[in-house]
Amino acid sequence: MKDSPIIVGLDIGTTKITTVIGEVSDNGTVDIIGEGSVPSEGMKRGAVVNLERATHAIRQSVAAAERVSGVRVGSVYVTVAGNHAKAITSHGLAAIRRNQEINAGDVDRAIENARAVPLDPNLEIIHTLPQEYVVDGQEGIKSPVGMHGVRLEVDVHIVAGTAGPLLNLRRCVQEAGLRVEGFVLHSLASGLATLEAAEQAQTVIVVDMGGGTTDVGVFKRGNLAHSASIPIGGEHVTADLAQILKIPMEEAEDVKRRYGAALPELADQDVTLEITTASGSTHAITAFELSRIIKPRLSEIFSLIRDEIDHTLGPVELVAQGIVLTGGAAQLRGTPDLARDRFRLPVRVGQPRGIGGLTDIVSGPAHAASVGLVLYGIGEDGKVPASVFTEAPQPAAPVPPAVPVPDAAAGTGVAPVVVSPPPPAPAPKKDGVSLVDRLRNMFKDWM
Ligand SMILES: Nc1ncnc2c1ncn2[C@@H]1O[C@H](COP(=O)(O)OP(=O)(O)OP(=O)(O)O)[C@@H](O)[C@H]1O
Ligand SMILES: [Mg+2]
Repeated sequence: MKDSPIIVGLDIGTTKITTVIGEVSDNGTVDIIGEGSVPSEGMKRGAVVNLERATHAIRQSVAAAERVSGVRVGSVYVTVAGNHAKAITSHGLAAIRRNQEINAGDVDRAIENARAVPLDPNLEIIHTLPQEYVVDGQEGIKSPVGMHGVRLEVDVHIVAGTAGPLLNLRRCVQEAGLRVEGFVLHSLASGLATLEAAEQAQTVIVVDMGGGTTDVGVFKRGNLAHSASIPIGGEHVTADLAQILKIPMEEAEDVKRRYGAALPELADQDVTLEITTASGSTHAITAFELSRIIKPRLSEIFSLIRDEIDHTLGPVELVAQGIVLTGGAAQLRGTPDLARDRFRLPVRVGQPRGIGGLTDIVSGPAHAASVGLVLYGIGEDGKVPASVFTEAPQPAAPVPPAVPVPDAAAGTGVAPVVVSPPPPAPAPKKDGVSLVDRLRNMFKDWM
């Protein structure tokens, strides 16, 4: 553990930049003492596209967390989106002298041998995560030190970030007057914050549904064993709605959060919205129809995850015992139901747990990665700190309901949403064109 009892996570996301300040007690428990979230600027799908604007937003986020905590932040752990990282699993071997116990040096040697794989010079290793050890063919050993054997083997999951995006991230953080304590893969951070004790004995797929990306981590008995990233997130759902309904992104975001559902059968059957388009024409749409626009995009995300796991690890149902959905976009009503249907596995929404302090502020799924950064900082070994499960944490506040609203007209069974003209037409997303076209065909009758 680091000398300083303060650990700071800086999650630089597509939609928001969040700073979380954690104070670590002697027994390893964490109190969250500061949080600052600002809308993301200068970022696109986990990469910096405007250094100045990203730096400015980072400064604001950190300053907000400093104000809450009264602590001055010097260094931070920073998330790296999975689409800017590559991961491989490599095998390492160390021979042990006869009649000698395996010691820490032997373990390091096995890991070092696994690390000695030729990597693209454009990659920078950010994690070396040993999985379980094998001693003389005996598998499933968590700590081989002190055991006897002549052959020590280990599989190591190596995660490397693409140098360019990492350099840009580091530059922004430094320009904001901070030091990068370490980069942490987004899906690893999310898993550390959300996995429950029982899931440490299983294989669980953590799916962080963000704004621009969906980061996937396969955790095998508590170790990150596989990772992937889908370049689609909640913002694409919003963009689909904006394009189909011909309303600005902000309005589409509002409609999505209030009335959206991942499954039409879960949509509020009594709600009809009145939409005023950019050109000033109005039309009505039911919440049922709204969710028929939303569902294909979420299905697409889950299908891509399925394909990725099926191709690399085998059929999802055989590989994993459960799915943990987290990230802001996991809050859309019915998302776990759709995921359950697609993966045919138990699905739950994961929120940060095992922490004290400002739990009401960081308890939602959108804070999984930022809280996970702080938990990563405790051990820097990529494992959930033991204190998370041994101490009784304060109960986390419940996630706010995805569809909170009955507004003024709800009593009549109609919830009008009036969009004032003349809003600019939302910019079409390049990778969303084909899906939007399909949706447009589905809804051409009332458009
Ligand atoms: N209550 C809600 N219902 C539905 N969607 C929501 C809700 N709250 C947030 N979202 C969606 O969550 C997404 C943002 O999630 P999150 O804050 O995890 O993203 P991020 O970390 O900034 O992005 P990324 O991880 O992709 O870089 C947005 O697309 C937003 O529409
Ligand atoms: Mg995120």
